Amino acid sequence: MEHKTDFLVIGSGLAGLSFALKVADHGKVILLTKTVLEETNTWYAQGGIASVMYAPDNLEKHVRDTLTAGDGLCDEKTVRMVVSEGPKQIEELIRWGANFDRLTDGKFDLNREGGHSEHRILHHKDNTGAEIMRALSEKARLHPNIEILENHFAMDLITQHHQGTPIFRGNPEIECYGAYALNISKNQIDTILSKVTLLATGGSGFIYQVTTNPPIATGDGIAMAYRAKAFVEHTEFVQFHPTSLYHPGERPSYLITEALRGFGGILKTQDGVEFMQKYDPRGSLASRDIVARAIDSELKNRGEDYVLLDCTHLNPEGLKSHFPNIYQKCLSIGIDMTNEPIPVVPAAHYICGGIRTDENGQSTILNLYAAGEVACTGLHGANRLASNSLLEAVTFAHRAAMDAITKISSIRLQEGIPPWNDEGTSSPEEMVLITQSTRELQQIMSNYVGIVRSNARLKRAIDRLYILHRETEELYSRSTVSVKLCELRNAIKVAYLIVKHARQRKESQGLHYNLDYPKKDH
Ligand code: FAD
Ligand code: SIN
Repeated sequence: MEHKTDFLVIGSGLAGLSFALKVADHGKVILLTKTVLEETNTWYAQGGIASVMYAPDNLEKHVRDTLTAGDGLCDEKTVRMVVSEGPKQIEELIRWGANFDRLTDGKFDLNREGGHSEHRILHHKDNTGAEIMRALSEKARLHPNIEILENHFAMDLITQHHQGTPIFRGNPEIECYGAYALNISKNQIDTILSKVTLLATGGSGFIYQVTTNPPIATGDGIAMAYRAKAFVEHTEFVQFHPTSLYHPGERPSYLITEALRGFGGILKTQDGVEFMQKYDPRGSLASRDIVARAIDSELKNRGEDYVLLDCTHLNPEGLKSHFPNIYQKCLSIGIDMTNEPIPVVPAAHYICGGIRTDENGQSTILNLYAAGEVACTGLHGANRLASNSLLEAVTFAHRAAMDAITKISSIRLQEGIPPWNDEGTSSPEEMVLITQSTRELQQIMSNYVGIVRSNARLKRAIDRLYILHRETEELYSRSTVSVKLCELRNAIKVAYLIVKHARQRKESQGLHYNLDYPKKDH
């Protein structure tokens, strides 16, 4: 089946939905999501969205904190732009119906998280993402110009390549004409032709064994864009959240928000001793790279499986009212966090790199935008400051929408795109091979490309990935496509890019720490 539209949005998280809502008055929008609309990383966001609201905070402090966390690799112009557009984007979210907690005097109840010098995180209890998704998905479902296609898996971007023209990375004339997508319920591959395409496919945490990300986070957008010859950068900077609930066997891991440390929670070893001061004067509220590495080092030195987040000295009623979901989650596994410390471990959480974009979210491919976690805008540098990602997603979705609206009337819909070619692919794939390879991939990434890396570990990772890549491409070439197979193929591509970029960086910086080059190079 062939669809034609003005705007194709791939992904239904904060980036995709806010872009769709902004462009929908200027043309027809098709929004694809691979499962249901709400199943996104955005939904699980707990701590909130960072933005400067009141004195003593100011824009300069937020800029400084972002640059410090980014460890010298942020693009300062982008940082200043995002931070100063923040308050306007928050107003828009509120106009769309999102509720953020307020104090009795009507002011926002602002949280503080690691690396922030001030309280500036707007939040809704401890489930901010779900509240934002509730508001935006209600609006999107009601908009007459937005057609939402759930259970549609985008497989590949359409470019000149599909008309038989060879393309190479760096060619400024590559154009995106839309995407091929698998309609999962009909098991048919549709061609979706669009004047403008936005990739808002989120992250890739699921390539690791222990992650806070839901299973949709397999890096599809980065892989699709890379195959279409877009530039992808800084993927070596994978952020591990210091505190996910230690509950072996549960996947994804349940996040214990950093806001709990902002509220006064303290990290301790299992014998009840505080340890963060040894690593950073900011203690439990140092930036994430530092805290995750400190925990990793304590666990390795002590041979233990988890550390503790102690909140027992804090007001029990305050804890329950600010963190009701975390309180209930801990209770469900027999831990009353008002009386006993919470066992926590680091978990893969966020990818700072991705598809390179300019200040308007435009990728290096014409008419292809990227926003949200899939993009690399220059905001995060070598380490994302907590709660800056929702801010980045909504800000870049806005800028991409404004840019696309000005261009849409001059873009022609492409004709003559052939349907998906599945010639010679008749045998159904063997599920056991796919499941086993996915497990192997997650083991490789967790064992060799985690918080602490070395040249030998990265070399082993690339060698193992090469074998997986070869086997998977062979399987792909002779099988009818399925979501699991496509996800595996995408995840291998992203893993390869992470290792490739990690091996190119001959220094330790931000989230990338290599034992063989323990220092920053400049
Ligand atoms: P997502 O919200 O991840 O949406 C991705 C969408 O793309 C989904 O709809 C998915 O189905 C779709 N998709 C993917 N591949 C395909 C495909 N091939 N075909 C079709 N559709 C596809 N950040 C903060 O700033 N503050 C927080 O408090 C915070 N807390 C977090 C807590 C958790 C547990 C997690 C996991 C992340 C948290 N983050 C937080 C990070 C933040 O939530 C994400 O970076 C952000 O929500 C990403 O939004 P997005 O719109 O880019 O992508
Ligand atoms: C958290 O609530 O700790 C997550 C915040 C983030 O990832 O930005």
